[in-house]
Amino acid sequence: MRAPKGMLDVLPPESARWIDVIERFASRAERFAYGLLLTPIVEHYEVFARVGETTDIVRKEMYEFVDRGGRRLALRPEGTAPVVRAFVQHRPPTPWKVWYLAPNFRAEQPQAGRYRQHWQLGAEVIGIDDPDIDVEVIELLWGFCHDLGLRDVRLLVNSMGDADSRARYREVLLAYWRAHEALLGDEMERAEANPLRILDSKRSDWLEMLERAPQLGEYLTDASAAHFERVQEGLRALGIPFEIAPRLVRGFDYYTSTVFELTSGALDTAQNAIGGGGRYDRLAEEMGGPAAPSIGFGSGIERLLLACDAEGVLPVPPPRLDAFVVDLVGVADTTRLLAELRESGLAADRAYGGRSPKKQFTAADRSGARWAVIVGPDEAKRGMVAVKDLRSDKPQCEVRREEIAAWLLTGKDEAHS
Ligand code: HAM
Repeated sequence: MRAPKGMLDVLPPESARWIDVIERFASRAERFAYGLLLTPIVEHYEVFARVGETTDIVRKEMYEFVDRGGRRLALRPEGTAPVVRAFVQHRPPTPWKVWYLAPNFRAEQPQAGRYRQHWQLGAEVIGIDDPDIDVEVIELLWGFCHDLGLRDVRLLVNSMGDADSRARYREVLLAYWRAHEALLGDEMERAEANPLRILDSKRSDWLEMLERAPQLGEYLTDASAAHFERVQEGLRALGIPFEIAPRLVRGFDYYTSTVFELTSGALDTAQNAIGGGGRYDRLAEEMGGPAAPSIGFGSGIERLLLACDAEGVLPVPPPRLDAFVVDLVGVADTTRLLAELRESGLAADRAYGGRSPKKQFTAADRSGARWAVIVGPDEAKRGMVAVKDLRSDKPQCEVRREEIAAWLLTGKDEAHS
């Protein structure tokens, strides 16, 4: 038996990096006053249908099924629609600032950096259209990538304008696609449904056509242009370098106004986006809720880790084990001793199954523990245990049995300071 195609297992010790990444994100999100939101992995199909009738992610790549009650459900392909659905359902006070950690499912052709299940860390702010919040959201993602140690990162920003800006632009763009109908072929249908969808294509035979296409920036209304200008000012004030990418339109139908993407120069260009997001000022209303202009981003954990590998940062953290108990006497006190160590806050382990002393010492070495705590017959009689520092050549010493936890904790603190 194997895991489904394009879906990964994450095993220890690699999984320790996941804890590291998630903790860094959680800590930053909490500092920015975002609360954790957990939503179901499945939603009613309609929740996602609205986010991308003209996107492949919804049209061709969703994992959908009918449950035993005859409901049409889908595995989450992305994180924004569930957040907005939860907002519309619960109506929390705005601005509603939330972060999330969740697996997403897209039946894409798997390749390096592109999987059928991927995990995203993300944040969304619902119910506010202040451009300063756009800056905050970008700052959150940018700072997080810096926390991981990533440096070869580019921030691309663009504005998709408001509804008026886009209505004017769509007409011009559609006329342009119609003039290139022969080259577009079957994709002409998609161009008619959503002219913007063609812009971010990576097809090499379209390169010239795409480069010459009219640009959205020229069709922004004054209000949209002012919003975008304010976002840029904010980024400059924070010293966050960015590039304006006029053809960045992002892959979902819900985007309006500010859109952005972080790309890693250390990854292959085909899958180099380590995070992306933007405004979706109409989505809450489209889902039957109140008007609630909103913005957010998602960042793929697998991609972040590939970028970290490529930059040689964020290695697997060393084992966290403090002590490995080696029992040369018999089990009763060892069980209690191990429990005491763990309850006092130390990470501790032992071997099971009545292993020989030699095998226990091998296991202690392999465990990566800092100390072996040895319960030997002579020491036990005197109320002592032996301690061996496994990471140095220091000779082993004896510590009073009832003081061992405190002794190890002190040693651990000293090692950290
Ligand atoms: P997205 O650009 O589709 O946006 O995905 C966000 C990030 O998830 C990407 O930048 C990438 O790092 C990662 N990712 C996407 N697809 C895959 C895949 N097949 N395999 C591995 N990693 C992947 C969204 O999902 C939006 N919900 C982002 C957003 C939030 N916009 C507003 N708020």
